[in-house]
Parts: sequence; C-alpha cells; structure tokens
Amino acid sequence: MHEVAAVPAWVALAYLVAGVFFILALRGLSSPESSRRGNRFGMAGMTIAVATTLLTHEVVSLGEILIAIAIGGGIGFVIAKRIAMTAMPQLVAAFHSLVGMAAVLVGAAAYLNPQAFGIAGVDGIIHQVSRIEMGLGVAIGAITFSGSVIAFLKLNGNMSGKPIILPARHFINFGTLAAIIGLIAYFLTDQDPWVFWTVTALSFAIGFLLIIPIGGADMPVVVSMLNSYSGWAAAAMGFTLQNTAMIITGALVGSSGAILSYIMCRAMNRSFVSVIAGGFGGDAIAANNGPAIDRPYKRGSAEDAAFLMKQAEQVIIVPGYGMAVAQAQHALREMGDMLKEAGVTVKYAIHPVAGRMPGHMNVLLAEANVPYDEVYELEDINSEFARSDVAFVIGANDVTNPAAKTDKTSPIYGMPVLDVEKAKTVLFIKRSMGGAGYAGVENELFFRDNTMMLLADAKKMVEDIVKNLG
Ligand code: TAP
Repeated sequence: MHEVAAVPAWVALAYLVAGVFFILALRGLSSPESSRRGNRFGMAGMTIAVATTLLTHEVVSLGEILIAIAIGGGIGFVIAKRIAMTAMPQLVAAFHSLVGMAAVLVGAAAYLNPQAFGIAGVDGIIHQVSRIEMGLGVAIGAITFSGSVIAFLKLNGNMSGKPIILPARHFINFGTLAAIIGLIAYFLTDQDPWVFWTVTALSFAIGFLLIIPIGGADMPVVVSMLNSYSGWAAAAMGFTLQNTAMIITGALVGSSGAILSYIMCRAMNRSFVSVIAGGFGGDAIAANNGPAIDRPYKRGSAEDAAFLMKQAEQVIIVPGYGMAVAQAQHALREMGDMLKEAGVTVKYAIHPVAGRMPGHMNVLLAEANVPYDEVYELEDINSEFARSDVAFVIGANDVTNPAAKTDKTSPIYGMPVLDVEKAKTVLFIKRSMGGAGYAGVENELFFRDNTMMLLADAKKMVEDIVKNLG
C-alpha cells in the first residue's frame, strides 16, 4: 500500500459537507415540489468541492483554470437555455461522453506523470493499487465516452435507431471484455505503455460495440446506465487523485444511475439483460403499422370534445410524448382550469415511462404550473378510470395500449399501462391514424366504440377545445 498524504481536517470536513449537500440534492430531486431546492443544494455542494480543491492544491495557474471554467460554464449555460425538452435525452448522452473523456484524460495524465499525482515512488514505479484504480477508471471512462457518443447519434437521428447486429457479436464482446480485464490484471506486473494504451483502445471499442445493437426505444435506459458508468469512472479517478469529494460524488452518481436504470426497466417490463442484449425498438418495428388505417373509427371535433368534457363529473388527462412534441402543456393547463371552473374534477395521470425520459411529463406539467396535487402516478390513479366520464389522452399511445395486458406476442406485453378504456369515453389526440407510438405497435383502443379520435396537432386541438369551452 502506498502512503496517502495527510489531508488537513478542514479539507476533509469541507468535502464531507459537499457530500452531504449532494445527498440532499438527490433527495430534493425525488419530487417536483422540492426539485429546485435539490438543484440549489447540488450547486452549493459543487461550489464547495471545487473551491476546496483549488485551495488545497498547488495550482500552477489559477487564471487558466478560471478561464476554462468560464468557457465551459458559458457553453453549458447557453446549451441548457436553448435546448428543447424533447432533445434532453441526447443532451444528457452528450454530457456523459464528456465525463467519460475527462476520466480517460485524468487517467492518461496520471499515467504519464505519476509522481506529480503522488502515486509513484522516485523510481517512477506506479503503486499497485493506483494501477488498478487507473486501469478501471480509464476503461470505464472510455466505455462511457464511446457508448454515449453512439447513444447521442442514435437519439439525435444522425444514426439510425435500428439495432445494428454484428455476426458473432456476443463472442466479440465477451472476448474484448475478457481482454480488458486480463490486461488490467497484467498492468499490475508490467506498467509498459502498450498495456495502458491497449486497455484504453479496447475500452473505446467495447463502448461502441455494446451500444450499436441497442434499439432506439431502449436508448433512455442505456443513457441512464451510461450515467451510472460515468459515476463509477469518476469515483475510480477520485481514488487516483486522492480526492474524497470525487469518490463520494462518483459513487452517488454511479448508484443513482443504476437504480434509475432498474426502475425504468421495471416500468417497461424489460429485463436489464434483455436491454443490454439489444434488438428492440428499431425503425423496422415502427414501420408495420399500415393496415390499421382502413378500419372504421369514430372521429370527433374540438366542439364535440368540449361538449363531452363540460358535461363530465371527472376528467382524467393522460399526457404522452405527443404533448411534449406539440408543447401543448400550457394550453392544456388552461383547458384544465376552465373545466374546473365549470365544476368538473380534473386529474392528470402520469405513466412512469410516458414521453422519452424519466419525469418528462412531470417537468412539462410543472412548467405550465399544473398544481402538483392534481398529478397522480399510475398506481394511484388506475382504479379511478372506471369512475371517470372522460379519459383525455393527449399524445400518449403505448402507455395506454391494452395489448400490454392481453397480447403475449406484443413487444410491450407485461408493461403496466393506464386503464383509460375503462372510462365512459376515451378522447385520443394524435395527428394521424397511421402514426405509431415508440414501440411501433397498433393500439386497439382507437377502434373501440367508446373512443373518439381527435386527429390534429395536440396544441392546436387543445386551443380549439379551449375556444369551445369559453
Ligand atoms: P408514444 O407511445 O411514443 O406515442 C406518442 C403519440 O403521440 C403517437 O401516437 C403520435 O401519433 C402522437 N404525437 C406525436 N406528435 C404529436 C403532436 N404534435 N400532436 C399530437 N399527437 C402527437 O408515447 P407514450 O404513450 O408517451 O409512450 C412512451 C413510449 O416511449 C413507451 O413505449 C416507452 O416505453 C418509451 N420509452 C419511454 C422512456 C421514458 S423514460 N419515458 C424511455 C424509453 C422508452 P401521431 O404521430 O399520429 O401524431
């Protein structure tokens, strides 16, 4: 074991306080009401951690660091301001790739100049424990980088969302992973550059190979998994740099990302292994939605919808991805307010995977100032549809599809869904009878007797309903 330089008590305390702030941040982010407070805790924790690091290290050029922080922070600020909510998953993927690359660069810097990092003796021999930390950190960082770049390209549409299946891919992947692990073990006995750089190169390759077979629909789970990897890469680098704050933060990100991936898989009734094995949710599945267009269905107008809802005692609104695309949340809140004024009870039902990222609908409804106490999770509202006059489905599709309950051959079979069909009338807003949901499967509900299709852009339709309610 190598000697760890003694850390002054105030530094340990400052890092501990930063760690506590990060935990409070995660706690705050668990509910929309406290999420702003959570974000502020996170910012405060990060400020303490960065300031402590700058004060305790022999900083060669503070000016350069501050300029770098200003440039990076400025770019982040502009991107965060401009980004559309619908593009959030790819933005998160892009940012994870930076965390992965940072871990690789820190690892490479430590490898090339180990004495400066205090992880080698005067003879330049790197301590064994540091070699493991460095090997693991660089490997996980490189996987996170190339995996996140592929996730970004797929989500951003620069690369087809279709799974790309290589022949003998399991063999290639296992072989590459085994080689990486074997080489990290060998690194303990030989710190020759070829070992370090081969681990790095193979890890970049495996990140790419692991993500290309995964289809578009599973990509948000992958992003959350890569989020977890980026945390573990940062934690490993925290050991190399002997920085407690980085170890704590990395472990928090790593474990919360893993838990989130698990929750998302459970909400979609997909096993984690089947997501990683890939092959679901490509463009090919979305393409077989053709024949449905010829079946008879009831079509209604904004006037019909306004009339039905005004008469209702209770209306449950079910938002989905289409509401996000149309940015219809503000018009929807206005519609809800008018219905409430007319004496109708209005509730919002949120499916855990409605939209394209966790909490997608909650964020949009919060942005439109929908009161939190009107927003219900699936398990709390599902029994209420049977007691409701209208289920108002706006841009949601898969999360209402009863095939998930009845059709064993359906790709969404087993996913818990909102029982909208139990309401007296189901109003469905979507643009066309042909457009499928993300899983690319037909929704039987569009053709039922108690369903009325409102075919239009969601925002336009809701605005028209509002006019008719007035
Ligand atoms: P989807 O099943 O994707 O359906 C979206 C619907 O919105 C489509 O029927 C589409 O039909 C309609 N639409 C699109 N743009 C519209 C617009 N401008 N105006 C009106 N309608 C519009 O959405 P969902 O029910 O929210 O389900 C989410 C899906 O994503 C699930 O399959 C879920 O597993 C998957 N997914 C979610 C997540 C997370 S974490 N949320 C992660 C991974 C995967 P038209 O094209 O005809 O308009």
